[in-house]
Amino acid sequence: MSYDLIVIGSGPGGYVCAIRAAQLGLKVACVEGRETLGGTCLNVGCIPSKALLHATHQLHEAEHNFEAMGLMGAKPKPDWKKMLAYKADVIGQNTKGIEFLFKKNKVDWIKGWASIPAPGKVKVGDTTHETKKIVIASGSESSPLKGVEVDEKTIVTSTGALELGKIPKKLIVIGAGVIGLEMGSVFARLGAEVTVIEYLDRIIPGNDGEVAKTFQRMLKKQGMDFIMGAAVQKAEALKTKAKVTYKLRKDDSEHTIDADTVLLATGRRPFTEGLGLDSLGVKLTERGQIATDKHFATSVEGVYAIGDAVEGPMLAHKAEDEGMAVAEILAGQAGHVNYGVIPGVIYTWPEVASVGETEESLKEAGRGYKGGKFSFMGNGRAKANFAGDGFVKILADKETDRILGAHIIGPYAGDLIHEVCVAMEFGAAAEDLARTCHAHPTYSEAVREAALACGDGAIHA
Ligand code: NAI
Repeated sequence: MSYDLIVIGSGPGGYVCAIRAAQLGLKVACVEGRETLGGTCLNVGCIPSKALLHATHQLHEAEHNFEAMGLMGAKPKPDWKKMLAYKADVIGQNTKGIEFLFKKNKVDWIKGWASIPAPGKVKVGDTTHETKKIVIASGSESSPLKGVEVDEKTIVTSTGALELGKIPKKLIVIGAGVIGLEMGSVFARLGAEVTVIEYLDRIIPGNDGEVAKTFQRMLKKQGMDFIMGAAVQKAEALKTKAKVTYKLRKDDSEHTIDADTVLLATGRRPFTEGLGLDSLGVKLTERGQIATDKHFATSVEGVYAIGDAVEGPMLAHKAEDEGMAVAEILAGQAGHVNYGVIPGVIYTWPEVASVGETEESLKEAGRGYKGGKFSFMGNGRAKANFAGDGFVKILADKETDRILGAHIIGPYAGDLIHEVCVAMEFGAAAEDLARTCHAHPTYSEAVREAALACGDGAIHA
């Protein structure tokens, strides 16, 4: 069979690219070697972790806030097996949804692992398919850490953490990034003693520093422990437990700590194994990502790449946008991604969300800015719902008032951030947000108040 486009990988980058290209009239196939479509995100990433975060947040609400609202009775106890079954059901619904969308849009699913023997050819098993264009959307995998042997039972990556045999009594998380804190939260709420070991002196590097400090304080209040400025040297699975050795950076002293389970969450790297990129002559960056130009083209004619396999933040929605853009380019349209407005969300409780510049990046660039901040304590809805912790911070150009970035820690921050994203796409000023009527009582009023704080001041502060 011959195609206009073969997409390699069916994660959010790949499946979105395949569907959009088919909608634009191309004859498309998508190669996927997993049993189900959806890649890391749907099978072992975003979606399953959100199911566990949702379930354990409900448990947290029952344990901490029900009585205060007059909801009395026995507190629920987690049944880990049932929770995993719920998670599996959520995965199934989502992966089957993509299968349905492929059928609806006439995208062929070629089952198996692909390699590219030559431009215009994709080999899966013994069959070589002809195609005019190829988009590589092969995603990423957990980066290994020297001295840490992952067995996905005692020493796990996020994949193993989503399938543990039982809830650990003691969990050590290596790395205070997104995966470490989301999965750490899940197990802390399930009663595990969670200790996070982080190399830097701050958590969630790259995020706004003030948000990071507030977030760490909240996580500590929720029972998570942090060992900061510590480089993990070794993690070993012993007979009944695991042992982690780390060195404190300030004095080089070595320490060990025990746990039932260790989660390695020190970053991910592009997954391009088996594609034959080397012999095809596809250039990589120094960090092992597939090098592409502004139109997602690799160094080999007719071969494109998107998502976690290329440069940029490893985020499902960044991959989706690139998937859509490259499909449009291949169909003769002007596909484009605005990398300045890609939100980032951490789905803990409260959520953390950010878009655009941080105070740190603006200071570094020497750009004049003003900040408007509003605490959820001043938001009536948040107070009613035990969600008054956290704040919204909007950063705007000092002269023009144009919004440059926003940072939210608080209830549904991951949804609230999008109002700022839309405003930024339209080049809005903070005053534009401030003058937009927001329904009362909603959490979104806190965003408006932060915008007001960029001007003459918030009302409820
Ligand atoms: P990350 O890059 O977010 O964080 C890794 C952390 O590990 C950093 O804070 C780093 O300083 C620390 N670290 C590195 N080496 C260390 C060592 N030897 N000892 C102690 N600490 C060490 O990586 P993470 O959390 O593994 O996530 C991987 C990717 O997946 C990220 O790009 C993330 O954005 C993405 N992701 C996004 C999610 C979301 O959007 N909600 C959810 C899960 C993953």
